[in-house]
Amino acid sequence: MKSKQYSPNETVAWRNLEALAQDSTKTTIADLFKSETDRAEKMSVEIGGIVLDFSKNLVSQDVLSELMALVDESNLETHRDAMFAGESINSTEDRAVLHAALRAEPEDANTPQEKERNRLVKTQLDHVREVSEKIRSGGWQGSTGKSITDIVNIGIGGSDLGPKLACNGLAEFAHPDIDIHFISNVDGAEILTTLAKLNPETTLITVASKTFTTQETLLNAKTAINWFETKLGLSSAQSSPHFIALTANRDNAVSYGIPESQILEFAEWVGGRYSLWSSIGLSIAISIGFERFSDMLAGAREMDLHFRTAPIDQNMPVIMAVLGIWYTNFLNAQSSAVIPYCERLLLLPSYLQQLDMESNGKSTTLEGEPVSYNTGPILWGQTGTNGQHAFFQLLHQGTRLVPIDFIAAVNDNLSNKEHHRVLLGNMLGQSSALMMGQPAPKNQPYRFYEGNKPSNTLLMNSLSAKNFGALVALYEHKVFVQGSLWNINSFDQWGVELGKKMANELLDAEHSDGNLDPSTKRLFNHIDSNSL
Ligand code: F6P
Repeated sequence: MKSKQYSPNETVAWRNLEALAQDSTKTTIADLFKSETDRAEKMSVEIGGIVLDFSKNLVSQDVLSELMALVDESNLETHRDAMFAGESINSTEDRAVLHAALRAEPEDANTPQEKERNRLVKTQLDHVREVSEKIRSGGWQGSTGKSITDIVNIGIGGSDLGPKLACNGLAEFAHPDIDIHFISNVDGAEILTTLAKLNPETTLITVASKTFTTQETLLNAKTAINWFETKLGLSSAQSSPHFIALTANRDNAVSYGIPESQILEFAEWVGGRYSLWSSIGLSIAISIGFERFSDMLAGAREMDLHFRTAPIDQNMPVIMAVLGIWYTNFLNAQSSAVIPYCERLLLLPSYLQQLDMESNGKSTTLEGEPVSYNTGPILWGQTGTNGQHAFFQLLHQGTRLVPIDFIAAVNDNLSNKEHHRVLLGNMLGQSSALMMGQPAPKNQPYRFYEGNKPSNTLLMNSLSAKNFGALVALYEHKVFVQGSLWNINSFDQWGVELGKKMANELLDAEHSDGNLDPSTKRLFNHIDSNSL
């Protein structure tokens, strides 16, 4: 990858944006609407089944132009092309970043390398199709010859959040006779209470782990093996029809005792937090069927093509990314909120927390220097209308700037007209109130709504598998653009290593005394002497 020397805060656009940020306090979003009569039409883009309205942002057309100039001065185009070409853009792990190849069609592959990759992905996804269809049709049987009624996906981080989000989000299409459960936390109460409700004869465990080394996942898998032994008297080899591995590390899964034919592989170049499109998504394919799983991939591919080809000022991921940069780096926002007005997308904020904060929670540049500007914001959220009765008070009258993404589906087959109108009316009412504000009545300063609170609104036609895929890919690319503009590596996660190491050292009695800080040592002793 031949990138030019680049530091975002040394660009002309950055300096111009700093000057514009000084002026921005003089204007409100409401004023901008008054002076730009076509603002709502102009600041809206549509791709596939998703519309983004970004007119309720605290940006003038001058700010937008400078944000686009910042993109022009960056290495975004080079980085984007290098990612899609399969270069090792994850430099600290010397790895390509090719989750988009999981949703590519044969016609997207031009070079011999791309064609080979396409064939590999097809073989791996064919395996997902074959296994998911066998389970869905009742053809996959447990050790006593019964069909599967319950899947327990054991995995954490990307091996949990994506499949869990998709299975919940696409519940409209769920198989009527198969329930999917997700166990991620090493907190034993989770797996033990879940298993206690299930019939081992009809339960299948999918052990989802890219590395097949993750402590939480392997301990939970061991507990599941013990459960089959206690309940059905099965040795670990005999319980094998109840286990499938989803991994990029075949050898570790084999050593763990999973039969080769029950290991569904994916490639090393799929990052954990980008892996729902791979065999890690088996639970999704079991739940909604492989055809709909393919629709999800098709929606993501549509977003990939849009991201690769649309001009930057019409490019949905680029627009959302630069707006985030405006708030983070120029208006000093510390966090951003995602508020889906759809209870089935309850897990979207958690999913995006990993995607965004594990990707862009970095402070070292691609050249290994400390950054001299803020990077990824704290992402949080909850569904509306529930959030309205919890934290919206702070959004309306608190002292902090929190840009928001409102997300909803225009149509919902699982709801009815009355509920859905009220739900969407609430979303639009909130975004409008946050932007417009209201003066305080006489002698009631506590009823003052400052307004001028920015938001995006994303409207899907419906929460179809295709639109869901496009929505997730939109955020993947948004995070990529921001990482590129901040000149950081969005694809490693070294920050999570130290805590893991310390936990392991602490659990190892030999090391637990010597190296611990006094506070941790005291707490550890307290636990030891008080545990029953
Ligand atoms: O939290 C670190 C991490 O490596 C994530 O990036 C990943 O999704 C998760 O752990 C689980 O890893 P694995 O799929 O290898 O078990």
